[in-house]
Amino acid sequence: MADALYRVFGNESGPFFFRGEYRNGRWWNGDILAGKDSVVGKVSDGVINFVLEIPPWAHERLKKAVESGEAFFDGNLKDGEWWRGRIVAADGMELVRVEDGNIKLPGGFWPESLIKRLIDENWIPQNWISAWQGVQRSPEWMNLCRIALSTGGPILEVAAGPGGGNLSPMLHIDPTAPIIMNDIEPRILARWRDHLAEVLPNNNVCFAAFDAASSPLRDCSLPCVSSCGGLGSIEGDKDSAISEAFRVIEPGGYLVALEMAFTEETLRNLPGPLRTEWGHDPIIAADGWSSALKERGFEVIQDSVAGSRQLRTDESGMAMKASKYGVTLWVEYHYIVAKKPA
Ligand SMILES: C[S@@+](CC[C@H](N)C(=O)[O-])C[C@H]1O[C@@H](n2cnc3c(N)ncnc32)[C@H](O)[C@@H]1O
Repeated sequence: MADALYRVFGNESGPFFFRGEYRNGRWWNGDILAGKDSVVGKVSDGVINFVLEIPPWAHERLKKAVESGEAFFDGNLKDGEWWRGRIVAADGMELVRVEDGNIKLPGGFWPESLIKRLIDENWIPQNWISAWQGVQRSPEWMNLCRIALSTGGPILEVAAGPGGGNLSPMLHIDPTAPIIMNDIEPRILARWRDHLAEVLPNNNVCFAAFDAASSPLRDCSLPCVSSCGGLGSIEGDKDSAISEAFRVIEPGGYLVALEMAFTEETLRNLPGPLRTEWGHDPIIAADGWSSALKERGFEVIQDSVAGSRQLRTDESGMAMKASKYGVTLWVEYHYIVAKKPA
């Protein structure tokens, strides 16, 4: 089983290979290589990490945050560029460190203080239970998980996050389902690894940190990509994340996704500047997800709506921005099944 989970990693020249220590058939500690000496990823206690450097879009975003005053650089400059120091958000949260002109991720992508909260406040054990409770109350959500499982896997759970996306329900239905759990932040995946080792020691989950908009998976390498708010929360290039999902799915394979889009009333009341800024986001129109998926070649089999709620400012940057205009954001849930034509 472990083998099938690792064969998906590679590029147009073929599968990547692993050099290091295995544990129970899993890549455990070592390097992932694309050629003889080209290291493209590192494996640390079973968590694969392809995010060895800060992606260019994240660098750009930091620059913009500093320019706009949302963050500041605390350190020394060299030739006008950040040289040694740290970048700190306006609320005091350290975002990254800068050493000799290079931006260092503090062990991962998220600020250290958020990782601390994730651990101290037990987000993952709680979400493991609450996601399964949620699915049991929602036939639409249950249906998405069953379609994903019916493909036999491996299933790529994209931008799984602290909520785990569809991971908990899928594993409650089939504890041995082969799943590649993705997030850009390896420390979230490490927490999931520990939690699953406790509650489901015989799981077939592989943990892979990578930018879903630039995926280290081979073309047509798996039968299903699954997302629960994952595609909608991609930082960086959301369009590319959809294209990448299409690329890695086998012909005849499925994308199942539970994503949000603004309600009609929210759209009507959206201030002009925000409409312009978010114009290309699939969340912006009721048919935004279907259109974005069709544009990239998917056949949309289902896009049904069930339930709506207000986005809280503490969970969404969009809601926070909208609140500055005195506007609240309401979203509805889209249950989407799309197929890559055979
Ligand atoms: C807040 S979560 C919400 C959705 C998530 N499926 C859940 O159930 O919690 C969004 C996650 O997307 C991850 N993420 C953001 N951009 C990403 C990218 N480009 N590639 C992979 N993961 C990404 C974040 O690290 C975060 O954990």
